Amino acid sequence: MKCDCDYILSNEDWDPHYQNCSTIWNKNYGTPSPKNADGTFNLTNKHLEQLDVDILYHLGLDNKNYDLPKMFGDVKFVCMGGTKYRMKEFASYVAKALNIECKDPVNLTKHSHRYAMYKVGPIISVNHGIGIPSMSVLLQEVIKLLSYAKAKDPIIFRIGTCGGLDIPPGSVVISSYALNGTLEKTYDVPVLGEMRKIPSFFDNRLNQEILHVASEVKGFTTFIGGTMAADDFYRGQGRLDGPFCDYTEEDKLSFINKLVKMGVKNIEMEATAFAAMTREAGLRSADICVTFVNRLKGDQVTPTKAQLLEWQERPMLVVTKYISKYYERLSK
Ligand code: URA
Repeated sequence: MKCDCDYILSNEDWDPHYQNCSTIWNKNYGTPSPKNADGTFNLTNKHLEQLDVDILYHLGLDNKNYDLPKMFGDVKFVCMGGTKYRMKEFASYVAKALNIECKDPVNLTKHSHRYAMYKVGPIISVNHGIGIPSMSVLLQEVIKLLSYAKAKDPIIFRIGTCGGLDIPPGSVVISSYALNGTLEKTYDVPVLGEMRKIPSFFDNRLNQEILHVASEVKGFTTFIGGTMAADDFYRGQGRLDGPFCDYTEEDKLSFINKLVKMGVKNIEMEATAFAAMTREAGLRSADICVTFVNRLKGDQVTPTKAQLLEWQERPMLVVTKYISKYYERLSK
């Protein structure tokens, strides 16, 4: 089996392959790689072949009545984030940075009001709501969309906000792995009455490239480290300011310090499922979040709206810079 990495950036010190390189896939999984020679990828669920039409319900699209290869076949990057507003803003932001004509991005989700999806050039910008259940519904339909569209070697980014652990608010964190609420590196989902535990690691090589790009941006520090994905904003993240709390401040700090010692840099609400599902599909992905609070110092998000808006642009800036590097490489 030959290496089929389509390198975006190069450096001899980085890992030699992406996680979805067919050579790595065969070693780790012992099953054929979902990736085809031309970079398109197959869905591993054989039941889908029996469907006359596959309705991507939450996107309001399907693979019979819409020409998905024509609409989305050129997609190289998908950028996901929590709110519709932020992802419309990202669509305009990336369009401006890459000189792609786009006056007012149009929501492409047909007769579905759950999510909003925009496309500028080869970039999809789509919101996923809050937490794993909302994010994973959207992500699975995006994965199917990319496969039906025959998109080649797509990369999926999640940009978001988070609580930081022992790092200054406004820092950016790139997740190397995701922990569930009981500190295992798995996405846990009950299937047919039994708990499945799916590994939740991100692509190290892709992260090395993103960190390199991020470290060229002045004004904030970018860290790589573990991310805890909680199923709750309050007790699930050890906060003292929710409506319910049956532990002490010492208990909270001892837990946060334990995470710090493990190398965990932030807490958000999606990383386990995001890492697990993209990896299982054979796609590269990265989770890039800005911290709004240092959880060793407090729980409430106190910076001004203007400050938070400025910070929220940081993951957008990093992803846009990375995408620009891809364009630079293409034009050489
Ligand atoms: N999002 C989270 O999940 N936690 C925080 O502390 C901030 C943003």
